[in-house]
Amino acid sequence: MDATAQAQPNIALVKYWGKRDTRLNLPVTGSLSITLDALWTRTRVEFDALLRHDELRLNGAEDPATLARASACLDLLRRRAGTALRARIDTRNNFPTAAGLASSASGFAALVVAADAALGLGLDRRTLSMLARQGSGSAARSLFGGFVGMAAGQRDDGADAVAQPLLDAAAWPLAVVVAVTSDRRKHVGSGAGMERSRRTSPFYPAWLDSAAADLAAAQRAVQARDFAALAELSEHNCLKMHAVMQSSRPPLLYWNGATVDCMQRIRALREDAGEQVFFTVDAGAQVKAVCTPDAAPRVAAALAELSGVEQVLSSRLGEGARLLDDSE
Ligand code: PMV
Repeated sequence: MDATAQAQPNIALVKYWGKRDTRLNLPVTGSLSITLDALWTRTRVEFDALLRHDELRLNGAEDPATLARASACLDLLRRRAGTALRARIDTRNNFPTAAGLASSASGFAALVVAADAALGLGLDRRTLSMLARQGSGSAARSLFGGFVGMAAGQRDDGADAVAQPLLDAAAWPLAVVVAVTSDRRKHVGSGAGMERSRRTSPFYPAWLDSAAADLAAAQRAVQARDFAALAELSEHNCLKMHAVMQSSRPPLLYWNGATVDCMQRIRALREDAGEQVFFTVDAGAQVKAVCTPDAAPRVAAALAELSGVEQVLSSRLGEGARLLDDSE
């Protein structure tokens, strides 16, 4: 009873920042993301009658905090399978964990796909997306590839708070260049940060009021493959989310100096050098530059020369979470 799955992180262009239910991870607003291909999580899940507790190794080391979240997610699948079997989870990321690169998104997407197969459940993608969401809100989106929309949903049980594919990766090939400016774990996780913003930011109501319009505009830009419109909307939505974070009490300031330098450099590349590129930043210090594939090497070179940029990763858009053969 074992299976191995791979999932890639996704990067939101219209962000999710606020929950209407913290237990079920129900978002207050919808979101829109792109799934990467070069960064991955690979997770093997093995149910074993001899185990008394779930066990987890993340990049080879025990990790109690991740184990607790993974166990709670596995409980949802165990309940559906009618089993109490415990599991051994072996998970690896080929990129920094918990530093704003969405490792929880790829992590929970890979976990539900592997556990579903190991238990022989055969759940559909929509259900897997719903289960991944309960592990981490953004994980619901990594079930799908390319451009993905996530619905806020209206039901209290969260059955309609699921992701759905909007456009295949191949239908609008884009690239993402990630400038890693810190490999430290973020000081406040996204769940606690969202709750703080909801309770204390004076800008939070405005954030919610404008979310549906941002989402609709981004969806139109994606359907029309309108890069300029998507760039303007994504940068606006990103900085609006950070305005909410920064106006929370105590403030959530995820940036460092290099984060700001990267954002300025990306704007200059677009406005002065005419490159098709825009930035987005999540709950961490890394900057993601979204660009056309031909611009990616020049964007990567420009970001790599900034002081404080420790590493530059390049990716195209990729597929949703999937099972791997044992040989992979
Ligand atoms: O899914 P979480 O709890 O890691 O929250 C994700 C929050 C952001 O990355 C900042 C925005 C988003 O929509 O991915």
